Amino acid sequence: MNVLIVGTGYVGLVTGVCFASHGHEVLCVDADARKVRQLQAGHCPIYEDGLESLLREQLQAGRLRFAAQVPPTAAHEVALIAVGTPSGSDGTADLTNVFAVAKELGRKLQPRAVLATKSTVPVGTGDKLERMLVDMGRTDLHVASTPEFLREGTALKDTLYPTRLVFGIADVHSSEVLKRLHAGVEAPAVLCSRATAEMIKYASNAFLATKISFINEIANICARVDADVSQVAIGMGMDPRIGGSFLRAGLGYGGSCFPKDTRALVNIAGDVDYDFKLLKAVVEVNQLQRTAPLRQLTDWLGDLSGKHIAILGVAFKPGTDDTRESAALELARVLRDQGARLTLYDPVVRRCSSHSGSPISVLDDPYLAVLDADAAVVVTEWSEIVDLDWPLVRQRMRQPFLYDGRNVLAPYTMQSIGFTFANVGRRAMSAALQV
Ligand code: UGA
Repeated sequence: MNVLIVGTGYVGLVTGVCFASHGHEVLCVDADARKVRQLQAGHCPIYEDGLESLLREQLQAGRLRFAAQVPPTAAHEVALIAVGTPSGSDGTADLTNVFAVAKELGRKLQPRAVLATKSTVPVGTGDKLERMLVDMGRTDLHVASTPEFLREGTALKDTLYPTRLVFGIADVHSSEVLKRLHAGVEAPAVLCSRATAEMIKYASNAFLATKISFINEIANICARVDADVSQVAIGMGMDPRIGGSFLRAGLGYGGSCFPKDTRALVNIAGDVDYDFKLLKAVVEVNQLQRTAPLRQLTDWLGDLSGKHIAILGVAFKPGTDDTRESAALELARVLRDQGARLTLYDPVVRRCSSHSGSPISVLDDPYLAVLDADAAVVVTEWSEIVDLDWPLVRQRMRQPFLYDGRNVLAPYTMQSIGFTFANVGRRAMSAALQV
């Protein structure tokens, strides 16, 4: 099939590369001409395992092309909108880009083309897009919604072998086109209305975020009653009705999706006079959780002014160089406000910006980052951090304070090395009992 994808962020780029690998002719469009040139030369602008080699393979095979503009007459059977939907200041999703792209496609697509949203868009957006196209006189186009469930870090695997496909449609033609587009993908499909498809995406992310905030609150109670949250999660997860995934306690969820989508769903509910109390609490718990180390560091070090604190891990999770809504940046902000001196280490991220927009440099040598530090905080559970030579880390630090914000270090071992150690709801236990 001839496929047009607008937007080459995580979702658009990965989707384009994967559809090309299924044998479709794919044109990916992005307004950023510099990025387009980079992609045309086979360079991937994001860090994602396996993506650059598959991108180059598909470029060489001639199935994948990049352009800075939608061609004047786009003879594509299907066009996917994968542009960003950032959070506005009030938490609502900003759809400016989505509507601008749809308008352009409305001028350029051939009759019977299917125009589908891949970006996460508020419930009702598909209907609004259709009304806009009808107002433009395009009653011959078909609007659909086919949300994406890929995770950064495992994006290729999630797209090539998804757990499910969701086709939100208003007519049979759209369903046939979307089925043909996904012919190479083996996964159960949910055929539903556009509004239902849009809600499936938000409800999925909101539920996963709820699991995380739930286990983080359990962790905070565990810390007070001398229980171990990691074992609680294992015990809970053995019940198939609960499931063990997304029960890792830590410094909360970050990234470009959960924070934005939870806030947006609270607003979607508010717009129809529904007070989504549970999700509001999930968002609040997450906000508090991200700065949880602050109290412990103050207990250990007193006034943090002038104290040197090493932040280990800057990406919002391992396997990506994405720092959007990363716990590390939020923690850095509050520590800076207290006057602390910070050094940051990450195996992949080299540079990021603070909340105020000023650039922060990130060291690529963890042993340099902890040199003469008064305390260190593990924020991202990269294997490069988990597998550090911890006795050497201890030697290099001025004081022995270590906070494990992702519960990835064995408490007993760390204490044996000589650290004064804290984590998110796991107690120290004898080596024999340690899991
Ligand atoms: C998430 C969803 O998992 C994808 O299904 C969805 O397609 C994507 O958002 C999206 O809407 O585009 P992603 O943001 O890449 O994917 O990352 P996740 O692996 O879901 O992790 C999100 C955050 O939750 C990370 O900060 C991670 O550290 C945190 N997390 C995850 C926990 O704190 N505990 C857990 O048990 C799991």
